[in-house]
Amino acid sequence: MSFEAGWYAVAIADGLEPGTSAGTRLFDREIVIWRDESGAAHAWEDRCPHRGMRLSFGFVRGDHIACLYHGWQYDTAGQCRYIPAHPDLAVPDTIKVTTYPSVEAGGLLWIWSEMTAEAPVPPPSDFAGTPVRSLYVERSPETIASLFSGGIAGPFEILSPTSFATVVEGSTVRLELQPFTAERTALHVVQTEGEPDAVGIAGWAEELRAVLESVPLSELTPEAHLARAMR
Ligand code: FES
Repeated sequence: MSFEAGWYAVAIADGLEPGTSAGTRLFDREIVIWRDESGAAHAWEDRCPHRGMRLSFGFVRGDHIACLYHGWQYDTAGQCRYIPAHPDLAVPDTIKVTTYPSVEAGGLLWIWSEMTAEAPVPPPSDFAGTPVRSLYVERSPETIASLFSGGIAGPFEILSPTSFATVVEGSTVRLELQPFTAERTALHVVQTEGEPDAVGIAGWAEELRAVLESVPLSELTPEAHLARAMR
């Protein structure tokens, strides 16, 4: 299977505190997510237009992020506003970081997978829940999606090509898949129903990771699928 352009969860929203930045990846593209000191979150290409330093190594100052290398500062639209070596320079409009649309919903931070000014469809709004943790699995996103949709990793309801739900000890749990790299997948685990049980669900998620990383690829062949269907 292949994944289409769309909204992808990339982090637990509360994990990104005001005044901080972090690096993530989507389809192997490096992305900086950062939250300004007023609380708004942003997602940009993780590359300073000056000499390519990762902006996720930079410092948030109010509603700007400053590059670690030479201190160029960018506003919330990605526009460079200040160059320390030339403090009186009116910075040209062309010095701008490429940005992704982003939004917070269901306790997660989502970004639109293409660099564009505005996403063509609204962000996910069909669930509310309590994020439990993010899980990083050393398998391809396509393999992980197949393990869920084929019922190999347990009984999962398929909500979308990247959203899966199951029941853990009486609680409904939703997994949002982030195609991190070609060989690595992030899963953002959210409890959507039931008594709060973050510890129990986090333990279940660890066991799930072990299963996802150990299932042999031979289980994903059409023959194996047919054999399961006939059991
Ligand atoms: S590389 Fe970012 S300011 Fe120079």
